[in-house]
Amino acid sequence: MIIAIDGTVASGKSSAAKLLAQRLGYVYINTGLMYRGVAAFCRRHGISTNDSRAVALHVKFLKVDLRNTAGGQRVLINGNDLTEAATAADIGAYVSDIADNKIVREVLVRAQQRLGRLAGNAVLEGRDIGSVVFPDAEVKFFVTADVCERARRRLADDLPKNPGLTLAAVEEATRARDERDRTRAVGALVRMPDAIDIDTTHNRGPEQTVAQMLAAMRAMQFDV
Ligand code: DC
Repeated sequence: MIIAIDGTVASGKSSAAKLLAQRLGYVYINTGLMYRGVAAFCRRHGISTNDSRAVALHVKFLKVDLRNTAGGQRVLINGNDLTEAATAADIGAYVSDIADNKIVREVLVRAQQRLGRLAGNAVLEGRDIGSVVFPDAEVKFFVTADVCERARRRLADDLPKNPGLTLAAVEEATRARDERDRTRAVGALVRMPDAIDIDTTHNRGPEQTVAQMLAAMRAMQFDV
């Protein structure tokens, strides 16, 4: 069974997806980490992420893998662990370029489909899982939250690293990320008609979000 979780940035979908997979004993697949890994590889090797042809040439020779460890999911590119670089605070703009690249998306979508099929039972999390990667997923969730609340959560996470940050700046950046995710020419964030909406605005944490997801699945007669 495939569970597709798509949604907006900082909506809490990653922590919920991880916890849901753990509860069900399913494999968790963080597809955003794969886009991040390709961005980190390009950065490391001096490939300009906005040079779409150069990126496309390289990506065909990359082996992008995810590995689960006790400390969380890691991304490996051609066997090298690039997780730290892939999750660095200043990787955002590079990742957006990579996520806009049509050829990168073709390669990563195929890798994600392979990982999902190999797992058998999997929770995949991203932007285009229910629309492109697994349009036939048995369960699709669309996770979001009010933009002010998402900005508050990001501020709380990022303030220790960047003490000068303001709520207004984070809110503006969050709206810009939403716009970029929603208007991407390929693999744009869309709410599929068969998706179940999960609004996390008033949730205290992933436990509550997972409880909502499990309740929705039980209502669909899944034995979870
Ligand atoms: O979820 P995240 O912030 O780690 O995602 C990193 C980037 O990759 C972000 O710009 C959105 C993009 N992304 C995507 O386009 N499609 C996915 N399935 C997952 C992530």
